[in-house]
Amino acid sequence: MKTRVTQMLGIEHPIVQGGMQWVGRAELAAAVSNAGALGTLTALTQSDPEALRAEIARCRNMTDKPFALNLTILPTIKSVPYDEYVDAIVASGVRIVETAGHPCEDDVTNLILLPLAARRLSIPFLASGGFADGRGLAAALAMGADGINMGTRFLVTRSRFWPLRRSRGRRISRTLSRSSRVCAAENFSSLEIWNMESGLLARLVAEAEAIIRDRLNSLL
Ligand SMILES: Cc1cc2nc3c(=O)[nH]c(=O)nc-3n(C[C@H](O)[C@H](O)[C@H](O)COP(=O)(O)O)c2cc1C
Repeated sequence: MKTRVTQMLGIEHPIVQGGMQWVGRAELAAAVSNAGALGTLTALTQSDPEALRAEIARCRNMTDKPFALNLTILPTIKSVPYDEYVDAIVASGVRIVETAGHPCEDDVTNLILLPLAARRLSIPFLASGGFADGRGLAAALAMGADGINMGTRFLVTRSRFWPLRRSRGRRISRTLSRSSRVCAAENFSSLEIWNMESGLLARLVAEAEAIIRDRLNSLL
């Protein structure tokens, strides 16, 4: 599936893994990129800019595909040396950077936002929030987005539930209430990563293609 986003980022599937604090490490980012989407390392998961340089190098060893960096710029209790993190990213040659700053979790849904964005923007854009399957991807494309950004879905790769083994079957949930994100897991620091569930992204895209081809065509 080709969109402006796949062409711009040099990826196979119009899917981006959003930055996730404590989750966006080299294992996940490389697995996502190797599966044909765009994986993302989360800069502030690393304790300092030097550790980030090492993490970027580790990710490069795991994939020869493009991956991105998320540098979250939000109010923090402890001051963050943002300039030094930026220098580390630039010096490492990473070309794709996601920054966060607006929680954007108000009551206006994607049903309103995406068509509006499609009307107002000439640049490619991604739909984000609540996407997890091919049906969602098809809907996002139909509403004018060039792809989707997923977070929570990547938490539950392999064995479907996370953290693996230690809390098998535990429900993972996330609130969409303002900026709070809650993962119902016992111990956040037990986030260790996993291999990508094999074929997950290819299946997701195939499902979207089938929906666009069969379901949407049958309505015409
Ligand atoms: C556990 C978790 C941690 C996250 N951490 C960050 C973060 O540090 N910076 C950021 O910009 N977005 C963060 N996000 C948001 C994701 O990048 C993504 O935009 C969002 O999860 C998409 O919505 P979805 O989870 O419904 O797919 C996080 C999301 C989750 C689930």
